[in-house]
Parts: sequence; structure tokens; C-alpha cells
Amino acid sequence: MNLEEIKKKAIENVSSAKTTEELQNIRVAVMGRKGGLTEVLKSLKDLSIEEKKKIGATANELRDELEELFNAKEKELKKQEREAKFRIDVTRPGHKISRGNTHPLSIIDKEVRRIFSSMNFSVVEGPEIETEYYNFDALNIPAEHPARDMWDTFWLKNNQQFPISNFQFPNKSEIKKPKTKNQKLLMRTHTSPMQIRYMETRNPPFQIIVPGRVFRYEATDASHETNFYQVEGLMVGEDINLANFKFVVEEFFKKFFSAEDGFASDGEKIEFRYRPSYFPFVEPGLEVDIRIGKGKWLEVMGAGMVHRNVFDAVRYNPDRVQGFAFGMGLDRLAMIKYNIPDIRLFYSGDVRLTKQF
Ligand code: DAH
Repeated sequence: MNLEEIKKKAIENVSSAKTTEELQNIRVAVMGRKGGLTEVLKSLKDLSIEEKKKIGATANELRDELEELFNAKEKELKKQEREAKFRIDVTRPGHKISRGNTHPLSIIDKEVRRIFSSMNFSVVEGPEIETEYYNFDALNIPAEHPARDMWDTFWLKNNQQFPISNFQFPNKSEIKKPKTKNQKLLMRTHTSPMQIRYMETRNPPFQIIVPGRVFRYEATDASHETNFYQVEGLMVGEDINLANFKFVVEEFFKKFFSAEDGFASDGEKIEFRYRPSYFPFVEPGLEVDIRIGKGKWLEVMGAGMVHRNVFDAVRYNPDRVQGFAFGMGLDRLAMIKYNIPDIRLFYSGDVRLTKQF
């Protein structure tokens, strides 16, 4: 092909190019390493000086000219392509935006924290792997004590693997070490061990709640799971008594069940019943039942006045301070509030549950 032909063909092809990709192919065919024009330029070396001058000059001119042509066309096509990509057809139906949902246990957890915070309780958390000392001994449940049967326990095999026994609050220096600490590791069976950890490092008066996950080596059924959530409560001061406890719990449940979220017992009366019970770390110990409207009585928490042996374990003087403690199941609260029949639903990962929240 002579230069004239190359030029004609190139201009023709460029003007009919529809996409930048097509244009690029044309460019390569003309000016690429094996392109028509490149071949001509390469063959110059075989020509006489005269011819070289003449053809060389025209070829170079053509190269510049085509370069410009390609660039202009490329700019134009790019603009077209960009516009096509972002053209919006406002008449098209919209995409449905799907949103995630908050798990009901998370909603309850948040709500419990909010209510107790509003009553001036601090929220603290503790480790899920505990030592036998914190989970049992310090809570007045020594080894061989029959009360240990209340908590079927997951024991851990290898103590070395978990550096959890080093868990401490920041102000380490203030920790009053008990004489012996049983370091055997387990998955905490309740949130009560945080009572000990907290009191070891702080002085009364204080009021705290401890929400957290707990573990039981138990068969599962509609109301039992091997892992579930609890909230511990602890208020200690110089003259804290059961009347203070009653006020706090009743206030909590009234707020918890009257929240305007469409699930609550809207305006229905809540009644309370206190039954004597036994937990090794309290004396007296009791259980709290509630009844919403005309419903059934439901057991919702264990509680009591902190046992003096517990105060002894944390080097508080049991003749000077008193306190109440309580523990309740978050899952149970959620089941009552949202009318969920089976605790296992919370852990099934089934979005048909979460989608309702
Ligand atoms: N830790 C008990 C349990 O898991 C619940 C409990 C009962 C906690 C009485 C307390 C309490 O603080 O005073 O069964």
C-alpha cells in the first residue's frame, strides 16, 4: 500500500469506528509495530537518498496527521461511552434496597444497658473463660459443695493455652490477693464471677451491671441452651437493703416492658412476687416472679443480699458494708417480651427470626 492508500483507508475506517476498542484496533493496524504506515517507515532505509527525503517527509507528516485524527476520534468516542454508561432512565422501576436487622438479643442487651445506665449503674464486662476461683470458690461455692451441681460446667483441658488468669482491671496495684486462688479454667457458668473481680479492685459504694455470655454443659431444649446471656447486678454500700433492691428491680421491669416499641405490654400492669430461694453467694436468697396483665407468673431473676463470705473473699468488712446482687437471663427476657417460644431460635442463624426486628 502506498501512503495515499494508507491515508484514505485510515480516514475511512476512523470515521466509521463506533467504539474506543474498535478505534484502537484500527490504530494498531496503521501505526502499530506491524502497521501499514510503520512498514513504510521501516522500508525507507532501502531507498535512495532522494526518495528517502521525499517519501520520508510525507510519511512523517502523515503519521502526525493520523495521530491527531486518532486522538480526536478517541476523545469523542470516550465521551460518548461515558455518557452512555451514566445515562439514567428515570422511568425504570427501582431496586429494592435490603437492609440488615438487629438480632433480638442485641436489642434487649442495648435496652437493659440503657435502663440501668439511666438509674446510675455502670456497665462492666468480664472474661468468658474464668478460673474455678472466680466462678465458684470466691462465690462461697467451695469444691465438693453440693451447690456446684446447680451449674453443669465446661472445664477446659489445657490451662496454659489461655492467659486469661492474668485478666485484671487497669489498677493492678490495688488488687488484694486472696491467699489461694484456684486457677483451673472453665467457661463461666454465670456472670457472678465479675462481682468478685469488680470488688477486688474497687471500693464501695457502687452499683454495676454485668451483661455477658455464659455457658452450661447441658442438654438443650426449648428453654435451655449450652450458651446464653445473663445480666448480673451488684449494688454495695453502707446501708443497702432489700427495699433498695425492690425499688431498682421494679423500676427496671416497668421500664423494660413499657418501652414504646410495639412489643411491650402497653399500659398493662406488672405485678411482682418475691419467693425465698437459695444461692450460695447471697443470704437471704430469693427469686423474683413477674406477671404482666392477666398472664401467667414468670420467674425472671435470682437475687439476694451479698453473703458475708463473698465480702470476706474480696476483703470487704461484712460488718460495715452491705449489698444486693441479682442475675437474670437476657434470652428469657427477650422470649417474654417478643413472645418467642424456643431459645434455640436465637442461635439458629435463621433470618426469618431476625427479619421481624
Ligand atoms: N448466678 C446465678 C445463676 O446463674 C443467678 C444469680 C442468683 C445471680 C442470685 C445473683 C444472685 O447475683 O444474687 O443461676
